[in-house]
Amino acid sequence: MCNGVWIKTYGCQMNDYDSGKIMSLLGRHNFHKVDSCQDESCGVVIFNTCHIRDKADQKLFSDIGRLKEIREKRLKKERPFVIVVTGCVAQALGVEITRRSANVDVVIGIQSAHKLPEAIEAVQQYQRSVKKYSPIISIGECNDEKFKCFSTVGASHLGPCAFVTVQEGCKNFCSYCVVPKTRGTEYSRPLAGIKEEVELLIKNGIKEITLGGQNVNAYEGVDENGGKFDLVDLIEEVAGYPEILRIRFLSSHPCNMSKRIIEAFGRIPSLMPALHLPVQAGSDRILRMMNRHYDRSIYLDIITKLRDICPEIALSSDFIVGFPGESDDDFAATLDLAKRVRYAKSYYFKFSPRPNTPAENMPDQIPEEVKEKRLEILQELLDSQQQEFNSETVGSVQSVLFERIGRHDGQIIGRTPYNQPVYVEAEAGIIGSERQVHITDLDKHSLGGILV
Ligand code: 5AD
Ligand code: SF4
Repeated sequence: MCNGVWIKTYGCQMNDYDSGKIMSLLGRHNFHKVDSCQDESCGVVIFNTCHIRDKADQKLFSDIGRLKEIREKRLKKERPFVIVVTGCVAQALGVEITRRSANVDVVIGIQSAHKLPEAIEAVQQYQRSVKKYSPIISIGECNDEKFKCFSTVGASHLGPCAFVTVQEGCKNFCSYCVVPKTRGTEYSRPLAGIKEEVELLIKNGIKEITLGGQNVNAYEGVDENGGKFDLVDLIEEVAGYPEILRIRFLSSHPCNMSKRIIEAFGRIPSLMPALHLPVQAGSDRILRMMNRHYDRSIYLDIITKLRDICPEIALSSDFIVGFPGESDDDFAATLDLAKRVRYAKSYYFKFSPRPNTPAENMPDQIPEEVKEKRLEILQELLDSQQQEFNSETVGSVQSVLFERIGRHDGQIIGRTPYNQPVYVEAEAGIIGSERQVHITDLDKHSLGGILV
């Protein structure tokens, strides 16, 4: 009756991955997923939080505040209602969360996520017996414990594509970024657990795997004999499973874009011709202040080498506008870089000062209206590049891996090797298969086509 779990996930694909795994793990302990905290059987709410931009903690506390009434009502009836905070805000704020909100029962760092069933059950016991209790706080260091547990639990996958976290954390310390503090320093999972997980996914019909990590191209794991194992070794290992038709990896730092990785795009057929390579800014001065350890010429050189090896590669990037001290000229350099690269897709953000990062207190913070204006200009350019890239596909035949049912009746959605969404009219039976599609239409963010 009280074992329904509603999980709200904020942020990136790493968090989606963790939420899927948490849900599966709880499923083994007699919990089940519900779609809303209003559901009668909902007795556990988990906030899997993100700290990377915006006022994530404020959003979290207002979300928790909204649950106060329902929680009190349930507890009065001696029905447990457990509120859990996990993810990066839990990691960053820890015990502070329970000081700021008396309604939080469990704060669990993502590295300790495997301890969640036990923690929730303990709180439920206290609440059932109306005992006084202290919130449970568990913030672990990054280690293989979590992944050992995650390797063997499935995730709530819809369709044939899965994300597998192979690396976590980051040691780059970009001056604007909280990740090294929230996710900790770089950690690479050993091959054995990753293989176990991939094999489980294959049993569940997975055809495409995205190897994920904050800085995945710095992956440096160990194989079964304790030997060094890098990202290319890992891609080759996954490519060795004939069931896996497509491999991607996300997200990469330009400094770790080795010759070996670049060459993999020309050598491994199932490595898809698409790469997310965040540049953040196009001005050398700003890149230096961001502590990115490359300049625009190094970045552009990587792009040239990638295109020499794989001319059709679809490139995507993240951009930050309004970094402290960014002048009109600096911003113009960002626009210029984007024009030179011609991205297939991009994500763009206004700089948001994060607690305890060097950029938080840098002089010359940019006024909000200037950030807004620059974001608008950059957005227009990047969106038009995306349209252009997609329009070049119209008229061609593309191989599309079908993933899910679309919003409109009879529509099935899949992706091209370049990661473009494509919809066709077809039977749901094609989900999970790769089919040739004649691309006929161009929409704002997707393509339409007809099965060949
Ligand atoms: N402000 C704005 N954007 C940020 N990102 C990371 N930290 C910040 C910040 N403080 C963006 C970067 C990164 C993406 C995941 O989020 O562009 O690549
Ligand atoms: Fe953050 Fe920089 Fe690491 Fe990316 S590379 S996670 S932006 S510190």
